[in-house]
Amino acid sequence: MNSKSNHGLARMTRICKRKSMTRFLVIALLCAVIGSGATATAQTGAPQTPALLLGTAWYPEQWPESRWDADLALMQQAGIHMVRVGEFAWSRMEPSEGQYDLDWLDHAIAAAAKHGIVTVIGTPSAAPPAWLTQKYPETLRTKEDSRKDQHGNRQQFDWANPKYRELARAMAEQLAKRFGHNPNVVGWQIDNEYAEVSFDPETRAQFQQWLKNRYGTLDNLNARWTTSYWSETYFDWNQVPIQVGYGNPGLLLSWMRFVSDTWRSYQMNQLEVIRANSDRRQFITTNMMGLFDGYDHYTVAQDLDLAAWDDYVGQGHLDPVKNGLAHDLTRGLKGKNFWVMETQPGGVNWADINNWLDKGEVRAMAWHDIGHGADTVSYWQWRSALNGQEQYHGTLVGPDGTPDPLYPEIAQIGREFEKASPVLAGTSVKSEVAILHSYDSRWAIQWQKHNKDYKGVILSYYGPLRAEAQSVDIVPPSASLGRYKLVVAPGLNVITDADAKNLMQYVNNGGHLVLGQRSGMKDVDNGLWPQRQPGPLTEPLGGRVEQYYALVDPVPIEGKWGAGQSPMWAELLSVKDSDVEVLMRYGKSNGWLDGQPAAITRKVGKGRITYIGAWLDPKTMAAAAHWMTDISGVKAALGPVPVGVDVYPRYGAKGAVYILVNFTNTQQTVKLPTGMKDVLNGGTTQAVTLPYLGVAVLSVAK
Ligand code: GLA
Repeated sequence: MNSKSNHGLARMTRICKRKSMTRFLVIALLCAVIGSGATATAQTGAPQTPALLLGTAWYPEQWPESRWDADLALMQQAGIHMVRVGEFAWSRMEPSEGQYDLDWLDHAIAAAAKHGIVTVIGTPSAAPPAWLTQKYPETLRTKEDSRKDQHGNRQQFDWANPKYRELARAMAEQLAKRFGHNPNVVGWQIDNEYAEVSFDPETRAQFQQWLKNRYGTLDNLNARWTTSYWSETYFDWNQVPIQVGYGNPGLLLSWMRFVSDTWRSYQMNQLEVIRANSDRRQFITTNMMGLFDGYDHYTVAQDLDLAAWDDYVGQGHLDPVKNGLAHDLTRGLKGKNFWVMETQPGGVNWADINNWLDKGEVRAMAWHDIGHGADTVSYWQWRSALNGQEQYHGTLVGPDGTPDPLYPEIAQIGREFEKASPVLAGTSVKSEVAILHSYDSRWAIQWQKHNKDYKGVILSYYGPLRAEAQSVDIVPPSASLGRYKLVVAPGLNVITDADAKNLMQYVNNGGHLVLGQRSGMKDVDNGLWPQRQPGPLTEPLGGRVEQYYALVDPVPIEGKWGAGQSPMWAELLSVKDSDVEVLMRYGKSNGWLDGQPAAITRKVGKGRITYIGAWLDPKTMAAAAHWMTDISGVKAALGPVPVGVDVYPRYGAKGAVYILVNFTNTQQTVKLPTGMKDVLNGGTTQAVTLPYLGVAVLSVAK
């Protein structure tokens, strides 16, 4: 944001104007210097925006220009300072090939700026115009069943097709040339929610070339994938098929890596021309989808300035744990604050039951976003198109253009964001606990679940760990881990040599690594590690998994974390070294597991490795999380709070800010460890009382 510099300029201009004529000569030079240095900004008159931005998706192309001002005035009244525009407007921007019409967008951006609203431009490549796919049918994606997609919805393009890339790049270049230096444009969103891929013969040829680059020789590929199995051996690169869902595990993983790299190059194709034609202050991002796993987000995020995602609930109510995990995952993509580029204004249109969130829940959700490290919360969408596929989706104003019942709640969020902005500006989330997350591992388990109910393993750890520490980072196994007291790897099924080295360096330097069930089973090519689980970490652990059991009925477990059950999954652990401590044992069950170790731990180097082979029921997991944090010296960021009250700490140069949200359905009182400033209500307080969905923003100086 350029708000600070503009603010400074406005102040200096006022000072320069106020000075009396008698002092004119003394200050003339100063004002001239300031003026010249800031001319560009002064001429541009970019709106000043708060550090916490409230925004909305706005589609000016769907409305007559005469209506825009009324919409923007209503946005301004609600404290909205950002609009995202353009991401589906290709047919308006380029009505025929090479004929670009961007004047309307220029007007829309200028009109928004007059209301103190900055703009993010979405490149429109998720919705190609009809003339394009008619003239170049090869740009339409081929579905898995070999049928071509068609015009009429969106995402019908082939992400690997060179012609499509050429046309999308030309469009993005036109936008960047026109708006890359526009002071009211703060950033760019490339495309919209990357998701659909193509299975056409040309894409398959690209995949085969990708394999050639990765494996070098067919002998190597055949060996890494063990293709002697089922006579899968390849004699020519062009024999390698595309497989999804069921197939050789090495091939399945390679395809997903190819998909991820292809999204990266698809994005880079537009990103390059935007960078080349825009001010560096304009960020480039794309709107991702939280826990969606259609590509490796770490691969795609590396070229972006900022991570952003679309935070939806769908049916039901906000699950602070599930959506919190998605926030933390998104924050971990760039290791810094992120944007919520879209979120639901009450309800959606795509769930089985599109219930509305409770009164106050949209506000609680906005603070949940900020607490997890978002700096912007933007609603999808401002007003629904009168026709079009999403007529039933939640909006902020109705089809008549007047406020919906939710509008006052949005305006409240707007006021609160403005109030809290000075305190939250420059703050970010810092955690003592990290959970390791890898797409390779998620895919590998999904393809061979071994128990149809097996899902949500990361969540089962995340919730209880977050409740203990009140802040958790989600990072890939390649991340630098030295800053964490505790690193937990639930279901880190694929562990590469490089990952193992990184993890052991962390442990040897004093960290506590906890491996959850199914960890360390697979190598970089999704092949089995011959030493059994946890693969390259078996030796330092001093024990290993002798056998895994998919369970129909839960088995009892007992030990340091009390007596509980292991549903769905149980791994029989063996202990090799005498200094390995058995933490939990299975009770009487299938005979094999009876009395055998379910969780073990060992001091290694200056640190410790723990392996948990059981899926722990919630109560036992809570006890385990308490043990893990306690033995690792992790403290709750704020201190004890009632169960169901979420705490989100953010830290900056001036001190700490704690955001609290009460997700229980009764009023809760939180006693604070010290007197804190009540940012939303004013004054200093030692305790806060929060109703259902109540929010407090508390700050304490260093
Ligand atoms: C997605 C899309 C939007 C809109 C919303 C509706 O997030 O990016 O264009 O379709 O869903 O919830």
